[in-house]
Amino acid sequence: MNPVKTAFFSAKPYDIRFFDISNKQFGFDLRYFKGTLNMNTIALTQGMDAVCIFVNDIADAEIIAALRNNGVRLLALRCAGFNNVDLHAAADNGLPVVRVPQYSPYAVAEHAVALMLSLNRKIHRAYWRTRDGNFSLHGLMGFDMNAKTAGIIGTGKIARIVIRILKGFGMNILAYDPFPDESYARAEGFRYTSLDELYAGADIISLHCPLTDQTRYLIDSSAISNMKDGVMIINTGRGKLIHTDILIDGLKSGKIGSAGLDVYEEEGDYFYEDKSDKIIDDDTLARLLSFNNVIVTSHQGFLTQEALHNIADITLQNISDFIQGKPLANLVTSGT
Ligand code: NAI
Repeated sequence: MNPVKTAFFSAKPYDIRFFDISNKQFGFDLRYFKGTLNMNTIALTQGMDAVCIFVNDIADAEIIAALRNNGVRLLALRCAGFNNVDLHAAADNGLPVVRVPQYSPYAVAEHAVALMLSLNRKIHRAYWRTRDGNFSLHGLMGFDMNAKTAGIIGTGKIARIVIRILKGFGMNILAYDPFPDESYARAEGFRYTSLDELYAGADIISLHCPLTDQTRYLIDSSAISNMKDGVMIINTGRGKLIHTDILIDGLKSGKIGSAGLDVYEEEGDYFYEDKSDKIIDDDTLARLLSFNNVIVTSHQGFLTQEALHNIADITLQNISDFIQGKPLANLVTSGT
């Protein structure tokens, strides 16, 4: 039997390392391409059984139709979020879409907490200062996390790890989720609130909901105006959960005390690439990077050894199940 042919877009050295290890069990013909999937690279999918993409590869209606024309039978996302895929177009074209719903909630949760701690205790500034022989503490004062309140939006797999860690610091938790799990909340000793109550009470707000029509620009001017002065906002979810220009206004006025952003609404042009020899022509991103109370990381929440190992195993298992006609446990539908 011919090996299953898979075109793998946005391939980075760490992807190739972990997928090659995992592929020893499957023996697929994996063709790695550095570039993103787009209409200029679609020709590379000709005759492929499956196409594997990541968070910044856009599978819109045009791409999906072209994939089907090229004979592609499965679109395999090697990530949890699927906001980059037009699921209606996929259904209309008969192209099943699979994903990796869970690979390591610890990876993203721990990164969210790393951003909180760094911003609070100004580790990013202290690091540069002491390297330059400057041992002054001016401007580095933080606050005790103990007895402060965290507002957690979305209480799924990642958020639950964040809540557990923050409770370890002695923080109070307010959470919002349109599908609250009251028994979990009782067991963990926190309570669900409305968004307004969460905004009014939280010292740190961390976003862990998916990007949907309901959550696009959740953090807008009305949300920010309801928040505490000096609030810290952490986003490891998706960039478009926050209206970035409005966030910048809040940072300039001091209403927002700090922001930790692992995702950015226009990240596709920059994140995962070395642009250090170029001028940043995205003025919004450049402004964000100019604040000393903002940390931007380039969508690296997932980047742990354990997560990469699981992503590779689950993605290749998804492809294998499809090829063998087995039920697709990780099928994405518009109702997912
Ligand atoms: P999950 O599906 O386990 O949890 C999502 C939670 O959000 C659910 O409890 C759901 O009820 C809730 N939710 C849905 N609509 C909501 C709304 N309108 N307002 C508030 N909550 C709402 O997802 P998981 O695994 O915890 O991941 C959360 C998000 O994190 C993903 O959707 C993805 O966008 C992002 N992510 C980021 C990564 C990174 O590297 N930075 C890696 C993996 C995921």
